[in-house]
This record gives sequence, C-alpha cells and structure tokens, in this order.
Amino acid sequence: MDILVTGGAGYIGSHACKALARAGFTPITFDNFSTGWRDAVRFGPYVEGDLTDKSSIARVFQEHDPKAILHFAALSRVDEAMSNPGLYWRNNVLGSLNLIEAAVEHGCLDFVFSSTCATYGDQDNVVLDESSPQEPLNAYGASKLTVERILHDFGVTHGLRHVIFRYFNVAGADPEAEVGEFHRPETHLIPIVLDAVAGIRDGVTIYGTDYPTEDGTCIRDYVHVSDLVDAHVLGLRWLMEGKGNEVFNLGTGSGFSVREVIDSARRVTNRDVPTTLGDRRAGDAVKLVSGSTRAEEELNWQPRQSTMHQMIEDAWRWHQVADYRE
Ligand code: UFG
Repeated sequence: MDILVTGGAGYIGSHACKALARAGFTPITFDNFSTGWRDAVRFGPYVEGDLTDKSSIARVFQEHDPKAILHFAALSRVDEAMSNPGLYWRNNVLGSLNLIEAAVEHGCLDFVFSSTCATYGDQDNVVLDESSPQEPLNAYGASKLTVERILHDFGVTHGLRHVIFRYFNVAGADPEAEVGEFHRPETHLIPIVLDAVAGIRDGVTIYGTDYPTEDGTCIRDYVHVSDLVDAHVLGLRWLMEGKGNEVFNLGTGSGFSVREVIDSARRVTNRDVPTTLGDRRAGDAVKLVSGSTRAEEELNWQPRQSTMHQMIEDAWRWHQVADYRE
C-alpha cells in the first residue's frame, strides 16, 4: 500500500520511510530537497516537488495511489523563523493547505501531521499535556499550530481523519546507521556536540546559563527518532481502523538540561567536549517536557530506545559513518 511521505528525504521523514517499509507499506517520498538528502531516500520511490506548487502535488497523485499521508515536510529552525517569519507562514502553512486540499480532492483521507511542542510556548515550567495552552513563541510554532487548526476544520467539513503528533526534541539515529540526522547549517544540540567531539567544530556554545533551572540551562525532553517514527506507524494503523482526530505528545516525560546532554556525550564517546558559555538564543523556551501518556495508552506506543545514552550512542555511530554529507 502506497503511503505519501512529504519530507521523506529529511531526518525524521527518512526514518519514517524505513519504518513504513519494514511494516509492509510502500513509502512514496515527496520532497523538494531543500533541506533533505537524495541519499536518504532508500526505502521507496520519490517525486521531487514543492508543496507550494500545486501542480507538483497533483503529479504525485497521478503517478502513485497513496492511501494515507504522513506530512513531515516543513522548515523547522527557530532562528530562521525569528528572522524570516514570512518564509515559515508561506512554506509551512500554505504548503500544508495545498497538500490537505489535494488529499481531500483525491479522497486520501487518513492524514498524520508532524506538529511540535513549540506550539505550547513557554508554560512556566509545567509538564505539558495535550490540553496545555498553546501560545507559540515564534513563527515556526505558530505555523504548526495553524496547520493543526486547518486539519480540525477539514476534519469537520470534509471528513479528513487526522492524527497530530506534537514532537518534543527528536534525537538519535537509525541504530543500523542507514539514515541519520544531518542539517545544513546544523543548529541542533546533539549533532553539534558530536561535531565538537569529532573535531569538526571547535566546541559547543551553551545558549544561556541564567535560566531558572537547576544548572541554569534549558531543559528538553529528548525522544529517539526510531521510537518517534514507530508512533507514526501505530498512528497510521489506528487511522486505518477508522479512528482519528486526536493529538498526541511524543516525548518521554524526562527532561535533560543542555549541560546534562553534554555530560552524557562525554561519557558515551569517552572524549572531551569543549564548551563556551553564551547568551540566550532568541525564541527558546526554558523547559519543554511532555507530561502525557496518551500515546502509550491509546496507541500502545513504547519509547523503548529513548534513553539519553542510546540516543547519543546511535547518533555517534551514524556520525562516524554518515555518507551523504559532502
Ligand atoms: N543549544 C545550545 N547550543 C547549541 C545548540 C542548542 O545550547 O549549539 C541549546 C538550545 O538553546 C536549547 C537546547 O540546546 O536549549 C536544544 O536545542 P536544539 O536546537 O537542539 O532544539 P530546540 O529545543 O531548539 O528545537 C527543537 C526542535 C525544533 C523545534 C523546537 C521547538 O529541534 O525543530 O524544538 O522548541 F522548533
């Protein structure tokens, strides 16, 4: 069965394609390769196209027969969203709207959407469940929240069945190192730390050491990318059973500070990580930790691989063999 995977050449999308192929589906990647990698498309065919171009979306429906959509394609850098919000509204919101309209037009009514804990904003150090207030701090979070709303409206009017996953911090890599995390420029903490370990960069700047947390650095809830994409396969099957229109946080409920992540990387790699103390980064929340077990309860999801040790170990293995970087 064909499943359309937008952003299938990206970090999370490529892992999802692998999980889908393993589960017996045929992932059809749709990607503009602006941030994704051709070499990451290893588990099914692809169509090159852009979601802001309706004719390229039409092409994927002409060439294939997707029964459901996993929608990962998006810009996702907070710093970029802060400096160029229009880009985020156009790409993430208009692109998603085009896709959702095409899905309805072609009767492809099972839709899984990658949303984010960035839709919650900064909620005073509480753990976040799906009913926590959504007050995004930046255009990235706002764009994702808007798409959540569009899905709701299309569910009511057009019967689009959807699952919305609000990701916490996705980390790690395929334990078999076939695909992994690689962004250009890299802005994410763990790959930056591993670049420093490998000597590719001089060190890591810790963005802010005066936050109201125990060690002064921001706290995040890290979830292994393999666990995250397993949730998508479960969500897809759940939709196919006729259920839907539900939101799930995907996090583990455990928070790690920036300093704890760096210490963990030192232990896993047994190497030093030079650090510099820097200013706060615009758009960062103090603490984002999931306080929900809905995905465990309703989808029977188990984030088994999401220990900090395993995420860094798998990311480090990938880092050493990554073969689609120039
Ligand atoms: N950090 C540093 N130094 C770095 C990079 C990151 O101190 O060089 C800190 C950040 O300030 C933050 C933490 O490490 O406190 C994690 O930063 P990441 O960039 O790895 O992740 P974010 O929490 O900023 O981003 C994640 C997703 C984004 C999403 C965001 C929503 O990766 O796609 O959550 O909050 F937009």
